Amino acid sequence: MSTPYWGPDFDALAAFDPDIAGVVVDELDRLRGGLQLIASENFTSPAVLAALGSTLSNKYAEGYPGRRYYGGCEVVDRAEEIGIARGKELFGAEHVNLQPHSGASANLAAYGAFLKPGDTLLGMALPHGGHLTHGTKVSFSGKWFDAVQYGVRPDTEHIDYDQVRDLAREHRPKLIVCGGSAIPRLIDFAAFREIADEVGAILMVDAAHFIGLVAGKAIPSPVPYADVVTFTTHKVLRGPRGGAIVCKAEHAKAIDKAAFPMMQGGPLMHAVAAKAVNLKECLQPEYRTYARQVIANAQALSDGLAAEGLRPVAGGTDTHLALLDLQATGVTGADAEQRCDAAGIVLNKNAIPFDPQPASIASGIRVGSPAVTTQGMAEDDMKAIASLIGTALRDADGSRTAEVAAGVRELVGAHPAYPAPRSSSPPQSAD
Ligand SMILES: Cc1ncc(COP(=O)(O)O)c(C=O)c1O
Repeated sequence: MSTPYWGPDFDALAAFDPDIAGVVVDELDRLRGGLQLIASENFTSPAVLAALGSTLSNKYAEGYPGRRYYGGCEVVDRAEEIGIARGKELFGAEHVNLQPHSGASANLAAYGAFLKPGDTLLGMALPHGGHLTHGTKVSFSGKWFDAVQYGVRPDTEHIDYDQVRDLAREHRPKLIVCGGSAIPRLIDFAAFREIADEVGAILMVDAAHFIGLVAGKAIPSPVPYADVVTFTTHKVLRGPRGGAIVCKAEHAKAIDKAAFPMMQGGPLMHAVAAKAVNLKECLQPEYRTYARQVIANAQALSDGLAAEGLRPVAGGTDTHLALLDLQATGVTGADAEQRCDAAGIVLNKNAIPFDPQPASIASGIRVGSPAVTTQGMAEDDMKAIASLIGTALRDADGSRTAEVAAGVRELVGAHPAYPAPRSSSPPQSAD
Protein backbone atom coordinates (compact mmCIF):
# COMPACT_ATOMS: atom_id res chain seq x y z
CA MET A 1 0.00 0.00 0.00
CA SER A 2 1.57 3.28 -1.04
CA THR A 3 -1.23 5.63 -0.01
CA PRO A 4 -0.53 7.12 3.41
CA TYR A 5 -3.05 6.41 6.12
CA TRP A 6 -5.40 9.36 6.62
CA GLY A 7 -7.68 8.32 9.42
CA PRO A 8 -8.96 9.71 12.68
CA ASP A 9 -6.55 12.25 14.09
CA PHE A 10 -7.53 13.04 17.64
CA ASP A 11 -4.81 15.66 18.08
CA ALA A 12 -6.17 17.59 15.10
CA LEU A 13 -9.67 17.43 16.57
CA ALA A 14 -8.42 18.58 19.96
CA ALA A 15 -6.52 21.49 18.40
CA PHE A 16 -9.38 22.66 16.20
CA ASP A 17 -12.41 21.90 18.37
CA PRO A 18 -11.60 21.38 22.03
CA ASP A 19 -15.34 21.46 22.85
CA ILE A 20 -16.13 18.34 20.85
CA ALA A 21 -12.76 16.73 21.67
CA GLY A 22 -13.74 17.16 25.29
CA VAL A 23 -17.04 15.40 24.67
CA VAL A 24 -15.22 12.50 23.01
CA VAL A 25 -12.79 12.13 25.91
CA ASP A 26 -15.47 12.52 28.57
CA GLU A 27 -17.66 9.90 26.91
CA LEU A 28 -14.74 7.47 26.75
CA ASP A 29 -14.10 8.13 30.45
CA ARG A 30 -17.79 7.58 31.19
CA LEU A 31 -17.76 4.27 29.32
CA ARG A 32 -14.64 3.18 31.14
CA GLY A 33 -15.70 4.45 34.54
CA GLY A 34 -19.05 2.71 34.97
CA LEU A 35 -20.84 -0.57 34.43
CA GLN A 36 -22.67 -0.41 31.13
CA LEU A 37 -25.68 -2.70 31.49
CA ILE A 38 -27.93 -1.26 28.78
CA ALA A 39 -28.93 -4.44 26.93
CA SER A 40 -28.75 -2.78 23.51
CA GLU A 41 -25.23 -1.38 23.87
CA ASN A 42 -21.74 -2.78 23.40
CA PHE A 43 -18.14 -1.70 22.85
CA THR A 44 -17.08 -1.80 19.19
CA SER A 45 -13.53 -2.77 18.35
CA PRO A 46 -10.81 -0.31 17.27
CA ALA A 47 -10.97 -1.94 13.80
CA VAL A 48 -14.66 -1.10 13.46
CA LEU A 49 -14.05 2.42 14.76
CA ALA A 50 -11.22 2.89 12.25
CA ALA A 51 -13.53 2.02 9.34
CA LEU A 52 -16.20 4.34 10.76
CA GLY A 53 -13.75 7.21 10.97
CA SER A 54 -12.46 6.75 7.43
CA THR A 55 -12.75 8.81 4.24
CA LEU A 56 -15.39 6.37 2.98
CA SER A 57 -17.74 8.80 4.70
CA ASN A 58 -17.20 11.18 1.78
CA LYS A 59 -18.61 9.00 -0.98
CA TYR A 60 -22.05 9.23 -2.47
CA ALA A 61 -23.03 5.76 -3.65
CA GLU A 62 -26.79 5.68 -4.26
CA GLY A 63 -27.65 2.29 -5.66
CA TYR A 64 -25.89 -1.04 -5.21
CA PRO A 65 -22.43 -2.38 -6.14
CA GLY A 66 -21.98 -2.28 -9.92
CA ARG A 67 -25.14 -0.22 -10.44
CA ARG A 68 -24.69 3.14 -8.75
CA TYR A 69 -26.07 6.55 -9.65
CA TYR A 70 -22.66 8.19 -9.13
CA GLY A 71 -19.21 7.76 -10.64
CA GLY A 72 -16.18 6.81 -8.60
CA CYS A 73 -17.87 4.04 -6.66
CA GLU A 74 -15.57 1.23 -7.78
CA VAL A 75 -13.62 1.31 -4.49
CA VAL A 76 -16.52 1.56 -2.05
CA ASP A 77 -18.29 -1.15 -4.06
CA ARG A 78 -15.66 -3.53 -2.76
CA ALA A 79 -16.53 -2.77 0.86
CA GLU A 80 -20.21 -3.50 0.27
CA GLU A 81 -19.52 -6.66 -1.75
CA ILE A 82 -17.17 -8.00 0.92
CA GLY A 83 -19.71 -7.19 3.66
CA ILE A 84 -22.57 -8.86 1.79
CA ALA A 85 -20.50 -12.01 1.18
CA ARG A 86 -19.58 -12.19 4.87
CA GLY A 87 -23.19 -11.66 5.92
CA LYS A 88 -24.33 -14.49 3.64
CA GLU A 89 -21.67 -16.79 5.06
CA LEU A 90 -22.33 -15.87 8.69
CA PHE A 91 -26.10 -16.22 8.56
CA GLY A 92 -26.45 -18.80 5.77
CA ALA A 93 -28.53 -16.15 4.05
CA GLU A 94 -29.66 -15.95 0.44
CA HIS A 95 -29.61 -12.15 0.32
CA VAL A 96 -28.12 -9.39 2.50
CA ASN A 97 -28.66 -5.63 2.43
CA LEU A 98 -26.27 -3.59 4.61
CA GLN A 99 -27.57 -0.14 3.76
CA PRO A 100 -30.22 0.71 6.37
CA HIS A 101 -28.96 3.53 8.57
CA SER A 102 -30.59 2.04 11.68
CA GLY A 103 -32.88 -0.67 12.99
CA ALA A 104 -35.96 1.52 12.57
CA SER A 105 -34.93 2.21 8.95
CA ALA A 106 -34.46 -1.52 8.32
CA ASN A 107 -37.96 -2.16 9.63
CA LEU A 108 -39.43 0.64 7.52
CA ALA A 109 -37.75 -0.83 4.45
CA ALA A 110 -39.04 -4.32 5.22
CA TYR A 111 -42.59 -3.04 5.68
CA GLY A 112 -42.20 -0.97 2.52
CA ALA A 113 -41.23 -4.07 0.55
CA PHE A 114 -44.40 -5.94 1.47
CA LEU A 115 -47.07 -3.51 2.67
CA LYS A 116 -49.05 -0.56 1.36
CA PRO A 117 -50.38 2.13 3.68
CA GLY A 118 -53.51 0.83 5.41
CA ASP A 119 -52.46 -2.84 5.24
CA THR A 120 -52.63 -4.91 8.40
CA LEU A 121 -49.55 -5.94 10.35
CA LEU A 122 -49.49 -8.05 13.49
CA GLY A 123 -46.73 -7.22 15.97
CA MET A 124 -45.84 -7.51 19.62
CA ALA A 125 -47.06 -4.72 21.90
CA LEU A 126 -44.29 -2.48 23.21
CA PRO A 127 -45.27 -2.84 26.89
CA HIS A 128 -45.00 -6.62 26.50
CA GLY A 129 -41.49 -6.51 25.05
CA GLY A 130 -42.04 -5.52 21.41
CA HIS A 131 -40.56 -2.44 19.75
CA LEU A 132 -41.91 0.99 18.83
CA THR A 133 -41.70 0.06 15.15
CA HIS A 134 -43.89 -3.01 15.58
CA GLY A 135 -47.16 -1.08 15.51
CA THR A 136 -47.21 1.54 18.27
CA LYS A 137 -49.40 4.54 17.54
CA VAL A 138 -46.51 7.03 17.87
CA SER A 139 -44.43 5.34 15.14
CA PHE A 140 -44.91 5.12 11.36
CA SER A 141 -45.72 1.48 11.96
CA GLY A 142 -48.91 2.36 13.85
CA LYS A 143 -49.70 5.54 11.92
CA TRP A 144 -49.49 4.18 8.38
CA PHE A 145 -50.56 0.60 8.92
CA ASP A 146 -53.49 -1.07 10.60
CA ALA A 147 -51.48 -2.51 13.48
CA VAL A 148 -52.82 -5.34 15.60
CA GLN A 149 -50.86 -6.19 18.74
CA TYR A 150 -50.19 -9.44 20.61
CA GLY A 151 -48.48 -9.92 23.94
CA VAL A 152 -47.38 -12.40 26.57
CA ARG A 153 -49.46 -14.74 28.72
CA PRO A 154 -50.18 -13.38 32.20
CA ASP A 155 -49.24 -16.70 33.86
CA THR A 156 -45.93 -17.52 32.14
CA GLU A 157 -44.98 -14.13 30.66
CA HIS A 158 -43.94 -16.03 27.52
CA ILE A 159 -45.31 -15.01 24.10
CA ASP A 160 -48.96 -16.02 23.87
CA TYR A 161 -48.87 -18.10 20.67
CA ASP A 162 -52.60 -18.92 20.99
CA GLN A 163 -53.33 -15.20 20.97
CA VAL A 164 -51.04 -14.69 17.96
CA ARG A 165 -52.90 -17.42 16.06
CA ASP A 166 -56.35 -16.11 17.07
CA LEU A 167 -55.47 -12.54 16.06
CA ALA A 168 -53.92 -13.74 12.79
CA ARG A 169 -57.08 -15.71 11.92
CA GLU A 170 -59.31 -12.78 12.83
CA HIS A 171 -57.37 -9.94 11.16
CA ARG A 172 -55.59 -11.77 8.30
CA PRO A 173 -52.44 -9.59 8.51
CA LYS A 174 -50.28 -9.21 5.43
CA LEU A 175 -47.21 -9.34 7.65
CA ILE A 176 -46.47 -10.77 11.08
CA VAL A 177 -43.46 -9.43 12.97
CA CYS A 178 -41.81 -11.06 15.97
CA GLY A 179 -38.85 -9.97 18.03
CA GLY A 180 -38.57 -7.01 20.35
CA SER A 181 -36.51 -5.07 22.84
CA ALA A 182 -37.34 -6.71 26.15
CA ILE A 183 -37.89 -10.42 25.46
CA PRO A 184 -35.63 -12.48 27.73
CA ARG A 185 -36.71 -15.89 26.41
CA LEU A 186 -36.16 -17.62 23.05
CA ILE A 187 -38.80 -17.06 20.38
CA ASP A 188 -40.41 -20.07 18.71
CA PHE A 189 -39.79 -19.15 15.07
CA ALA A 190 -41.33 -22.41 13.82
CA ALA A 191 -44.61 -21.55 15.59
CA PHE A 192 -44.64 -18.09 13.99
CA ARG A 193 -43.89 -19.65 10.58
CA GLU A 194 -46.80 -22.02 10.95
CA ILE A 195 -49.19 -19.21 11.88
CA ALA A 196 -47.93 -17.00 9.03
CA ASP A 197 -48.39 -19.86 6.55
CA GLU A 198 -51.90 -20.57 7.80
CA VAL A 199 -53.03 -17.01 7.05
CA GLY A 200 -50.74 -16.36 4.06
CA ALA A 201 -48.70 -13.66 5.82
CA ILE A 202 -45.08 -12.63 5.36
CA LEU A 203 -43.02 -13.54 8.44
CA MET A 204 -40.61 -10.84 9.50
CA VAL A 205 -38.24 -11.38 12.42
CA ASP A 206 -36.79 -8.25 13.98
CA ALA A 207 -33.65 -9.81 15.42
CA ALA A 208 -32.05 -6.49 16.45
CA HIS A 209 -31.51 -7.58 20.01
CA PHE A 210 -30.37 -11.15 19.62
CA ILE A 211 -28.75 -11.35 16.16
CA GLY A 212 -25.31 -11.39 17.79
CA LEU A 213 -26.25 -14.55 19.66
CA VAL A 214 -27.37 -16.06 16.35
CA ALA A 215 -24.09 -14.98 14.72
CA GLY A 216 -22.22 -16.66 17.56
CA LYS A 217 -24.30 -19.86 17.13
CA ALA A 218 -25.41 -19.58 20.76
CA ILE A 219 -29.17 -19.60 20.00
CA PRO A 220 -31.26 -20.87 17.05
CA SER A 221 -31.36 -18.75 13.90
CA PRO A 222 -34.57 -17.23 12.53
CA VAL A 223 -33.11 -17.13 9.01
CA PRO A 224 -34.45 -20.52 7.83
CA TYR A 225 -37.96 -19.63 9.04
CA ALA A 226 -38.43 -15.98 8.15
CA ASP A 227 -39.12 -14.34 4.82
CA VAL A 228 -37.14 -11.39 6.07
CA VAL A 229 -34.91 -10.75 9.10
CA THR A 230 -34.07 -7.19 10.10
CA PHE A 231 -31.52 -6.23 12.70
CA THR A 232 -29.32 -3.55 14.16
CA THR A 233 -25.58 -4.02 13.95
CA HIS A 234 -24.64 -2.33 17.22
CA LYS A 235 -26.11 -4.47 19.99
CA VAL A 236 -24.74 -7.93 20.92
CA LEU A 237 -23.36 -8.14 17.37
CA ARG A 238 -20.86 -5.40 18.39
CA GLY A 239 -20.61 -3.57 15.10
CA PRO A 240 -21.14 0.07 14.18
CA ARG A 241 -24.48 1.81 14.84
CA GLY A 242 -26.69 0.78 11.92
CA GLY A 243 -29.18 -1.65 10.45
CA ALA A 244 -29.22 -4.58 8.04
CA ILE A 245 -31.68 -6.91 6.32
CA VAL A 246 -31.38 -10.58 5.41
CA CYS A 247 -34.00 -12.25 3.24
CA LYS A 248 -34.90 -15.07 0.90
CA ALA A 249 -33.69 -14.62 -2.69
CA GLU A 250 -37.27 -14.28 -3.92
CA HIS A 251 -37.64 -11.06 -1.89
CA ALA A 252 -34.21 -9.62 -2.71
CA LYS A 253 -35.39 -7.16 -5.36
CA ALA A 254 -38.27 -5.89 -3.27
CA ILE A 255 -36.06 -5.41 -0.20
CA ASP A 256 -33.30 -3.63 -2.13
CA LYS A 257 -35.78 -1.29 -3.82
CA ALA A 258 -37.42 -0.55 -0.49
CA ALA A 259 -34.09 0.27 1.21
CA PHE A 260 -33.13 2.49 -1.74
CA PRO A 261 -34.79 4.50 -3.23
CA MET A 262 -38.02 4.10 -1.27
CA MET A 263 -36.66 4.67 2.22
CA GLN A 264 -33.17 6.17 1.98
CA GLY A 265 -30.86 8.07 -0.32
CA GLY A 266 -27.13 7.39 -0.32
CA PRO A 267 -25.81 4.67 1.96
CA LEU A 268 -23.26 5.57 4.66
CA MET A 269 -20.32 3.79 3.05
CA HIS A 270 -18.05 4.20 6.09
CA ALA A 271 -20.76 2.44 8.13
CA VAL A 272 -21.18 -0.26 5.46
CA ALA A 273 -17.40 -0.87 5.58
CA ALA A 274 -17.52 -0.98 9.40
CA LYS A 275 -20.36 -3.51 9.18
CA ALA A 276 -18.12 -5.63 6.94
CA VAL A 277 -15.31 -5.47 9.50
CA ASN A 278 -17.72 -6.48 12.25
CA LEU A 279 -19.03 -9.42 10.22
CA LYS A 280 -15.46 -10.65 9.82
CA GLU A 281 -15.06 -10.42 13.59
CA CYS A 282 -18.24 -12.45 14.04
CA LEU A 283 -16.85 -15.19 11.78
CA GLN A 284 -13.91 -15.77 14.16
CA PRO A 285 -14.09 -18.66 16.67
CA GLU A 286 -13.59 -16.20 19.57
CA TYR A 287 -16.90 -14.59 18.76
CA ARG A 288 -18.72 -17.87 19.48
CA THR A 289 -17.07 -18.01 22.87
CA TYR A 290 -18.15 -14.42 23.45
CA ALA A 291 -21.78 -15.12 22.51
CA ARG A 292 -21.98 -18.10 24.87
CA GLN A 293 -20.46 -16.06 27.68
CA VAL A 294 -22.96 -13.24 27.08
CA ILE A 295 -25.78 -15.68 27.83
CA ALA A 296 -24.03 -17.27 30.82
CA ASN A 297 -23.45 -13.80 32.22
CA ALA A 298 -27.04 -12.66 31.69
CA GLN A 299 -28.24 -15.80 33.47
CA ALA A 300 -25.84 -15.25 36.36
CA LEU A 301 -26.93 -11.62 36.62
CA SER A 302 -30.61 -12.60 36.55
CA ASP A 303 -30.05 -15.26 39.24
CA GLY A 304 -28.05 -12.83 41.35
CA LEU A 305 -30.76 -10.18 41.14
CA ALA A 306 -33.38 -12.76 42.07
CA ALA A 307 -31.33 -13.44 45.21
CA GLU A 308 -31.57 -9.69 45.92
CA GLY A 309 -35.38 -9.90 45.90
CA LEU A 310 -36.05 -8.83 42.28
CA ARG A 311 -38.34 -11.07 40.24
CA PRO A 312 -37.04 -12.15 36.82
CA VAL A 313 -39.88 -11.71 34.32
CA ALA A 314 -40.64 -14.97 32.44
CA GLY A 315 -38.70 -16.80 35.14
CA GLY A 316 -35.23 -15.93 33.83
CA THR A 317 -33.41 -15.53 30.55
CA ASP A 318 -32.11 -17.54 27.58
CA THR A 319 -30.47 -14.52 26.01
CA HIS A 320 -28.35 -11.45 26.73
CA LEU A 321 -30.93 -9.57 28.77
CA ALA A 322 -33.05 -9.94 31.85
CA LEU A 323 -36.16 -8.02 32.78
CA LEU A 324 -36.69 -7.64 36.52
CA ASP A 325 -39.94 -6.86 38.28
CA LEU A 326 -39.23 -4.55 41.24
CA GLN A 327 -42.71 -4.44 42.74
CA ALA A 328 -41.81 -6.54 45.78
CA THR A 329 -39.00 -4.11 46.62
CA GLY A 330 -41.29 -1.05 46.63
CA VAL A 331 -38.85 0.77 44.32
CA THR A 332 -40.01 1.99 40.90
CA GLY A 333 -38.04 1.46 37.72
CA ALA A 334 -37.34 5.21 37.50
CA ASP A 335 -35.99 5.32 41.06
CA ALA A 336 -33.91 2.19 40.51
CA GLU A 337 -32.38 3.66 37.35
CA GLN A 338 -31.53 6.88 39.19
CA ARG A 339 -30.07 5.15 42.28
CA CYS A 340 -27.89 2.87 40.16
CA ASP A 341 -26.81 5.74 37.91
CA ALA A 342 -25.62 7.73 40.93
CA ALA A 343 -23.15 4.91 41.65
CA GLY A 344 -21.99 4.39 38.05
CA ILE A 345 -24.27 1.48 37.16
CA VAL A 346 -25.98 2.33 33.88
CA LEU A 347 -29.21 0.45 33.18
CA ASN A 348 -32.72 1.40 32.16
CA LYS A 349 -36.14 1.40 33.72
CA ASN A 350 -38.47 -0.82 31.70
CA ALA A 351 -42.17 -1.60 31.64
CA ILE A 352 -42.98 -5.15 32.66
CA PRO A 353 -45.93 -6.99 31.11
CA PHE A 354 -49.25 -5.72 32.54
CA ASP A 355 -47.36 -2.91 34.29
CA PRO A 356 -49.58 -0.80 36.56
CA GLN A 357 -47.14 2.14 36.23
CA PRO A 358 -46.82 4.47 33.23
CA ALA A 359 -43.79 3.82 31.01
CA SER A 360 -42.07 6.95 32.33
CA ILE A 361 -41.94 5.36 35.81
CA ALA A 362 -42.24 1.62 35.11
CA SER A 363 -42.12 -1.28 37.56
CA GLY A 364 -39.05 -2.93 36.12
CA ILE A 365 -35.48 -2.60 35.04
CA ARG A 366 -33.78 -4.20 32.05
CA VAL A 367 -30.18 -5.33 32.31
CA GLY A 368 -27.92 -6.75 29.61
CA SER A 369 -24.56 -8.44 29.53
CA PRO A 370 -23.09 -7.59 26.06
CA ALA A 371 -20.79 -4.72 27.10
CA VAL A 372 -19.51 -6.14 30.40
CA THR A 373 -18.82 -9.45 28.62
CA THR A 374 -16.78 -7.60 26.00
CA GLN A 375 -14.78 -6.23 28.94
CA GLY A 376 -14.00 -9.80 29.93
CA MET A 377 -16.27 -10.15 32.93
CA ALA A 378 -17.66 -13.57 33.86
CA GLU A 379 -20.25 -15.15 36.15
CA ASP A 380 -18.54 -14.18 39.44
CA ASP A 381 -18.46 -10.57 38.34
CA MET A 382 -22.18 -10.77 37.56
CA LYS A 383 -22.83 -11.94 41.12
CA ALA A 384 -20.87 -8.93 42.39
CA ILE A 385 -22.82 -6.60 40.07
CA ALA A 386 -26.14 -8.05 41.28
CA SER A 387 -25.12 -7.42 44.87
CA LEU A 388 -24.15 -3.81 44.06
CA ILE A 389 -27.51 -3.24 42.32
CA GLY A 390 -29.33 -4.75 45.31
CA THR A 391 -27.50 -2.39 47.67
CA ALA A 392 -28.18 0.63 45.43
CA LEU A 393 -31.88 -0.21 45.26
CA ARG A 394 -32.22 -0.46 49.03
CA ASP A 395 -30.31 2.79 49.51
CA ALA A 396 -33.19 5.29 49.54
CA ASP A 397 -31.21 8.12 51.15
CA GLY A 398 -28.04 7.71 49.10
CA SER A 399 -25.92 6.99 52.15
CA ARG A 400 -24.31 3.97 50.47
CA THR A 401 -23.73 5.46 47.01
CA ALA A 402 -19.99 5.91 47.62
CA GLU A 403 -19.66 2.29 48.75
CA VAL A 404 -21.46 0.99 45.64
CA ALA A 405 -19.42 3.32 43.41
CA ALA A 406 -16.23 1.91 44.96
CA GLY A 407 -17.43 -1.61 44.09
CA VAL A 408 -18.08 -0.48 40.51
CA ARG A 409 -14.59 1.02 40.25
CA GLU A 410 -13.06 -2.22 41.47
CA LEU A 411 -14.88 -4.24 38.79
CA VAL A 412 -14.16 -1.92 35.87
CA GLY A 413 -10.59 -1.50 37.09
CA ALA A 414 -10.06 -5.24 36.86
CA HIS A 415 -11.73 -5.40 33.40
CA PRO A 416 -11.22 -2.06 31.70
CA ALA A 417 -13.14 -1.13 28.56
CA TYR A 418 -10.85 0.07 25.76
CA PRO A 419 -7.75 -0.73 27.83
CA ALA A 420 -5.07 0.28 25.32
CA PRO A 421 -3.77 3.83 25.64
CA ARG A 422 -5.32 6.22 23.16
CA SER A 423 -3.02 7.01 20.26
CA SER A 424 -3.32 9.15 17.18
CA SER A 425 -0.32 7.60 15.44
CA PRO A 426 -1.10 6.15 12.06
CA PRO A 427 -0.47 2.46 11.50
CA GLN A 428 2.67 1.65 9.50
CA SER A 429 1.99 1.10 5.83
CA ALA A 430 3.36 -2.11 4.35
CA ASP A 431 4.65 -1.27 0.88
C1 LIG B 1 -36.12 -4.87 18.36
C2 LIG B 1 -35.63 -3.55 17.86
N1 LIG B 1 -35.92 -3.18 16.62
C3 LIG B 1 -35.52 -2.00 16.13
C4 LIG B 1 -34.79 -1.12 16.90
C5 LIG B 1 -34.44 0.22 16.34
O1 LIG B 1 -33.11 0.39 16.14
P1 LIG B 1 -32.51 1.86 15.94
O2 LIG B 1 -32.51 2.51 17.27
O3 LIG B 1 -31.15 1.61 15.36
O4 LIG B 1 -33.40 2.56 14.97
C6 LIG B 1 -34.44 -1.48 18.20
C7 LIG B 1 -33.66 -0.54 19.03
O5 LIG B 1 -33.48 -0.66 20.18
C8 LIG B 1 -34.89 -2.71 18.71
O6 LIG B 1 -34.63 -3.09 19.96
